Amino acid sequence: MLRTSLLTLAVGAAAGAHAEVTLCGQYGDYETKAYTYNNNAWNPTGTGNSCTTITNGTGKFDPFYAVWSWSSQPVEVHAYPNVQFNAPALPLMIGNVGSLNISSAWTLTNATGSGPSTSGRKNAAAIPLQANVAFDMFADMNATVSQMPAKQSVEIMVWVAAFGSYAKPEGYSNGIQDTVTLPQATFNLYIGDNGRGQEVYTWFATTNLPKFNNLDLAPLLNHLVAKKLVSAQLYLGTVQFGTEAYYSAKPVNFSVSSFQAKLGKVGKNKGSKRSVNLLE
Ligand SMILES: *[C@@H]1O[C@H](CO)[C@@H](O)[C@H](O)[C@H]1NC(C)=O
Ligand SMILES: *[C@@H]1O[C@H](CO)[C@@H](O)[C@H](O)[C@H]1NC(C)=O
Ligand SMILES: *[C@@H]1O[C@H](CO)[C@@H](O)[C@H](O)[C@H]1NC(C)=O
Ligand SMILES: *[C@@H]1O[C@H](CO)[C@@H](O)[C@H](O)[C@H]1NC(C)=O
Ligand SMILES: *[C@@H]1O[C@H](CO)[C@@H](O)[C@H](O)[C@H]1NC(C)=O
Repeated sequence: MLRTSLLTLAVGAAAGAHAEVTLCGQYGDYETKAYTYNNNAWNPTGTGNSCTTITNGTGKFDPFYAVWSWSSQPVEVHAYPNVQFNAPALPLMIGNVGSLNISSAWTLTNATGSGPSTSGRKNAAAIPLQANVAFDMFADMNATVSQMPAKQSVEIMVWVAAFGSYAKPEGYSNGIQDTVTLPQATFNLYIGDNGRGQEVYTWFATTNLPKFNNLDLAPLLNHLVAKKLVSAQLYLGTVQFGTEAYYSAKPVNFSVSSFQAKLGKVGKNKGSKRSVNLLE
């Protein structure tokens, strides 16, 4: 009993005990033990900006929102405001990822108040919005490199939503390469490269998922190994969740009200039923 209450106290002190933080710089970030919040306006060309506010939460996760607008042509990704999962077990070989369960709820709305525009793949709201909501993961055969931004050889994305006709995975024109159905949605695989020397594997949900509970990304990673597209020895280094901001002339608000990530490692006992040891 004593141990439990001490633990609870420690968690309470480690997270949430800060004033609201707003990041507007290109690579501004805010780090807590469990998560790092990144404004990541990595391609600030043309007209626009992005600012990410991290609120003072009560649990491990601090709800955050990013308000952005980018109105220049051609339409392209300018920023990827995101939360990064700081799992101590990463880097971890993809062949050893037993489960990677994520639960979250998010909205993408007109920043002046109307919305949410989360209902349809096309522009349901009156905002000519071009964006996705996606996991971005990076991996490399070298464990150290797997956590070095832009140096990793492989990028694996999982798109849980897309808005507008410009927000398309790399390799979209080559067509669907494979399909996996999870309890939450069906995901189609696209394969391309991002022009920065990274191979990109994108799993694209066929319906938008404004909230999901225990969405397990491990089967999507494992499938790439089973199809010999990537090696089981490839180290997964970085796991992020956010929105790729392509275009909106008026400010939009990407708000993540809840987020929980749990990583499980494949157990020693690899019988017919896969055993998983939960790491965090
Ligand atoms: C943050 O929230 C906690 C309660 O969750 C509160 O005790 C603390 O005073 C708040 N800190 C600031 C700087 O607002
Ligand atoms: C964005 O959404 C958050 C969370 O709902 C809200 O607190 C904030 O005021 C919004 N900001 C703008 C500029 O719309
Ligand atoms: C945003 O919401 C406001 C308030 O509801 C509305 O007046 C405005 O037309 C909306 N803008 C867009 C681009 O949808
Ligand atoms: C992995 O990459 C790091 C950083 O570039 C390098 O120092 C190290 O030698 C590499 N390790 C292997 C086994 O290649
Ligand atoms: C992870 O998610 C899967 C599928 O939703 C579920 O069967 C499993 O029990 C979850 N595991 C944990 C540790 O939450």
